[in-house]
Amino acid sequence: MCGIVGFAFRQPFSAKEILTALKRLEYRGYDSFGYADNSGACIKRVGEIAVDAAPGSFSRTAIVHTRWATHGGITETNAHPHADCTGGIAIVHNGIISNYRELRGDMEAAGHVFRSQTDSETIAHFFEGKDVKKAMPEFFSRFQGEFAVLLIRKGDEKIYAFKRGSPLVLGIAQDGNMVASDIYAFSNKTNRAIFFNEDEFAEITWEGWKFYSIGEGAAPVEKEITPFSWKEGEELGEYPHYMIKEIKEIPQAAGRLLLSLQAEQKPAVEKIVQMMKNAGRVIFVASGSSYHAALIGVQFLARAGMEARAIVASEFRSFMILDESTLAIAVSQSGETMDVIEAMRGIKAKGVKIASLVNVPYSTVQRMSNAHLNIAAGQEICVAATKTFVNQVIAMAYMASMVGYKADFASLDGCIAKAFSQEERIKEIAAELKDRKDIYILGRGISYPVAREIALKLKEISYVHAEGMMAGELKHGTLALIEDGTPVICLMPKNDKDIVSSAEEVKARGARVIAFNGNGIEEGVKIGGADAVAFCIASTIAGQLLTYYIAREKGLPIDKPRNLAKSVTVK
Ligand code: AGP
Repeated sequence: MCGIVGFAFRQPFSAKEILTALKRLEYRGYDSFGYADNSGACIKRVGEIAVDAAPGSFSRTAIVHTRWATHGGITETNAHPHADCTGGIAIVHNGIISNYRELRGDMEAAGHVFRSQTDSETIAHFFEGKDVKKAMPEFFSRFQGEFAVLLIRKGDEKIYAFKRGSPLVLGIAQDGNMVASDIYAFSNKTNRAIFFNEDEFAEITWEGWKFYSIGEGAAPVEKEITPFSWKEGEELGEYPHYMIKEIKEIPQAAGRLLLSLQAEQKPAVEKIVQMMKNAGRVIFVASGSSYHAALIGVQFLARAGMEARAIVASEFRSFMILDESTLAIAVSQSGETMDVIEAMRGIKAKGVKIASLVNVPYSTVQRMSNAHLNIAAGQEICVAATKTFVNQVIAMAYMASMVGYKADFASLDGCIAKAFSQEERIKEIAAELKDRKDIYILGRGISYPVAREIALKLKEISYVHAEGMMAGELKHGTLALIEDGTPVICLMPKNDKDIVSSAEEVKARGARVIAFNGNGIEEGVKIGGADAVAFCIASTIAGQLLTYYIAREKGLPIDKPRNLAKSVTVK
């Protein structure tokens, strides 16, 4: 994953300033961070970015990196920047060099001495003693995989920036230029950007930039400046964690989305619905929580009589059946998930149209799509998707309603409020469940993806092994695991008799049943929600609150859970 930033400014800036910009990319990884400037100064630290890590460093050209470890453990040596043998070149890299073993073998045989276990260090050694610009075509032909790289040389006031696969964007400021993994790094300093295309490189100084395209024989290319606007994420305020702040923002975010779908996003939603009708069949492609939202979307569309499937992005190739009667819809909060982007590349290659639902504007997924909707949830900082998942579900329901699905959007507010009214009860349940090792969540039909979503939240944020499953499947195996006191959350939409039987079955075997709605069973949490959309959303909120309070009981790092990152930019 990783985030990278480079600054080239007319006036010297402090390490603190560029590390503050990097801090804005910490959602891309927080295993370690590092700084290098063109005086040769370099610092590396394990852990979250400490903006005061290099108090005395000022320069006019510097690069920084925040890491999500892929190759090599979480150590200072493996932290970026990496240098060549002479220390004259420093690089930061986001991506994975897939043929690095072979490259490293060749380089070691030629006498290069490696310090780290990373794939990235090969990049610094490759350019050692070379004219960087002239060596660029050879680099692009020898290095495989994905990369966005920033390279500086000692004593030189220039940043070389180059990319294949991983995102990279230039920000144009008044007295200098910035380059980063995404616009968020510098969206408080400028509203003008140039997005790198595949296999492009640029020479960047404080005075200007030059872009070149490898595909066109490394010839210079003209680039368009894109003006952008970005609403800054609000501060944490009175909340102890972003997760609870973002859960509490759900009513506001949901209302904002519904309004925008009826107003400024009306033409976009109509365009996508027309694309769906023209195609006749929809395939959603997504990962993690976005995949669960897509599974719910499939059911909304099925109820409207439209054929739809949801496929996990990383497995897309194994299931790919694409023709002109298919519309692919990519669903991604960040718009930067590499599994989704890879799947989209395959879809595009087959000439199939792609629409997308994204939260982060100007993201790669959005820019790759033929049409897009913004789910308008606002910035989400906690690694867990909460308000963005809810808005994805609302956007799905809204699109389905335009092809005949009957959703009662008017009941949404009341249901959301009802879920929040259960917060104290949920806290009590969290205290009771905090030491449990396994939790099962049962759903049926439209509540099955919600069960999986709640299980994912419990795993990533509360570190509890959780299984979200189809209630009907229980008796085909998993029931053997139910013993005295096993916690089983049953998602019980009103009028669903079958889920009541499943709850009775586990209860009969000693399970501690926590019913979201009672339907005759002792009620754990009152969700309400006669409407399917409302029930999905209300039970999701209850599950999110439960997850949050279990994690709090356990004293876990809620917003930045171990081993994860918000934006998963590697395959
Ligand atoms: C959700 O809580 C997760 N952190 C994760 O599963 C996430 O939904 C997944 O990585 C997909 O991200 P995207 O929506 O940005 O593509």
